[in-house]
Amino acid sequence: MALPQDFLQELKLRCNIEDVISQYVQLKRAGSNLVGCCPFHSEKTPSFTVFRNNENFYCFGCGAGGDVITFVMKMENVDYMTAIEHLAARAGLTIPEDPKNAVMRVNKDRYFEMNKLAARFFYDSLIDPKNDDALKYITSRGITLQTIKRFGIGYADTSWDSLTGYLMSKGYEKEEIKNNFLAGISSKTGRAFDYFRNRIMFPIFDLSGRVIAFGGRIIGDEKPKYLNSSDTYVFKKSRNLYALNHAKNNTDSSLILCEGYMDVVALQQAGFINAVATLGTALTSEQTRIISRYASTVYLCYDSDEAGQRATKRAIDMLSDVGVKVQVVKIEGAKDPDEYIKKYGKTSFEKLLKGSNGHIEYALGNISAKYNVNVAEQKLQYLDECCTMLSGVFSEIEREIFIQKITEKTGISADIIRHEIKKRQKRNFEKNRRDAIKEDINKSIGYGDRVNADSAKNLATVKKEENLLGLLLLRPEYLDLASIKEIVSEDIFRCEFSKKVWREIVKNKEAENEGKSTFGEEFTPEEMGRIIQMRLNREKLSNNSEDVALELANTLKQEAKSQTDTDGSDDSFLKLIEELKKSKK
Ligand code: CTP
Ligand code: MN
Repeated sequence: MALPQDFLQELKLRCNIEDVISQYVQLKRAGSNLVGCCPFHSEKTPSFTVFRNNENFYCFGCGAGGDVITFVMKMENVDYMTAIEHLAARAGLTIPEDPKNAVMRVNKDRYFEMNKLAARFFYDSLIDPKNDDALKYITSRGITLQTIKRFGIGYADTSWDSLTGYLMSKGYEKEEIKNNFLAGISSKTGRAFDYFRNRIMFPIFDLSGRVIAFGGRIIGDEKPKYLNSSDTYVFKKSRNLYALNHAKNNTDSSLILCEGYMDVVALQQAGFINAVATLGTALTSEQTRIISRYASTVYLCYDSDEAGQRATKRAIDMLSDVGVKVQVVKIEGAKDPDEYIKKYGKTSFEKLLKGSNGHIEYALGNISAKYNVNVAEQKLQYLDECCTMLSGVFSEIEREIFIQKITEKTGISADIIRHEIKKRQKRNFEKNRRDAIKEDINKSIGYGDRVNADSAKNLATVKKEENLLGLLLLRPEYLDLASIKEIVSEDIFRCEFSKKVWREIVKNKEAENEGKSTFGEEFTPEEMGRIIQMRLNREKLSNNSEDVALELANTLKQEAKSQTDTDGSDDSFLKLIEELKKSKK
């Protein structure tokens, strides 16, 4: 969708790339540019660069790049229009009315409104005396009426069409209801039927308090126990957390992360208002980023079963990656926090939080549980695993604390343990270095190039294509030259990615002539990164003339005509790639 150029310019002016990125990344000045640690991959030395003169960013580590809009798209994991909406709201700008935009926005509001109506409908059903059994079920689980209200908990009755009928009476089409994951449409009869039946309904709210989705727990033993909304126009499962709308008001910068709706509701009812949960999926990296905005410490409070413990390990790594401190809460004598609170009360739970282990202690505890250190062989294995684990711990002080503990437990001197850890650190370092070199080789022969999958086959050509495209990106006015127009067309490019960039350059030129801009809409941040690099590479050269463009274009045209690569290097490269693939296995 094309937006007026003036609007985009105004938007970018008001949402200065430096200011926007600074909200997420700590930037330092480096010459005329700014650098920081990339928010899109984990790194210790900054390779994420903001180019102030052309309002772009580019990460030399992972290749992500683009303008302020692309940045928001990737950071918040949203589509182009949502990123624009986000920035416009920040800048206090109204998005100009385009008939298409208008339809899109009205739709979203309609979906929000539909969810709100549905949530009310479910709530009313729950307190309706004729559904007494549902209310009995939820109160028998210790949930009070006040809590029901606070979370907007409701009941989807056993009928096949009560909600659908109600929403249709409010003017919604069955397709809309289906799109919002509240109904299905029977392929036989074409009639809509309610998705959620005989379930306790937990509405999911966004941070502005709008209902965006539902989770429903069956009353009884039918399967599945929980049914959750899939992604819809107004809901992205991977980007939301249950009850964060309440929990974000916590004052001590901590969150309690649990597995289930009932855990959160029970904990919050007991006064732990910083409890949240993922929405029926494993923790995602988007969720960890959101968490890091609201908490510096997370109490991980997963179920005590094996699956919960596996999820704990994974969550520790993911949360540490975004700089959040993790405390692991061990639920003993109950299967989950909900059951625990009910059995032992809130003071006991408070004690659990206080007594929770940091993630290193937790990992050491797990290793310890596997071995009997009184048996020599097991002691060796125990030491081996501990040293490996500690070799990954960055802080020397933290390492020292645990070295002492291991010494006490095994009687092995701290010096020996230190030495073993150092050895492993060296090994890790060497391995990382080798991996980095391997990756460089892979990149240079095009294998593993996610942006331009054709680059392995057409290595000789791809460089020229990127050269030409970079030049045209730098000097779009060349597109108007008759000499260029005559030679350059989509056909002279052989990589699909190059063709796509070319089409976009042309389209954007036309849009610009009408005072509009479309660039960026069609590309992922990785692709935008590659495009920016094409331009940057060209910018470094001094011969960016029309003649160079013509020469490149002519060569490409001839090569495309003869179809076979002139230097015949394709075969040998393909062989090399095959070998590399084999050696990887
Ligand atoms: N879940 C799900 N689909 C299922 C089972 C579970 O999406 N079939 C998700 C739900 O978000 C649920 C969470 O995983 O809240 C934890 O599941 P589980 O421990 O099985 O349920 P509880 O939350 O303990 O629910 P209850 O106490 O009502 O049995
Ligand atoms: Mn439970």
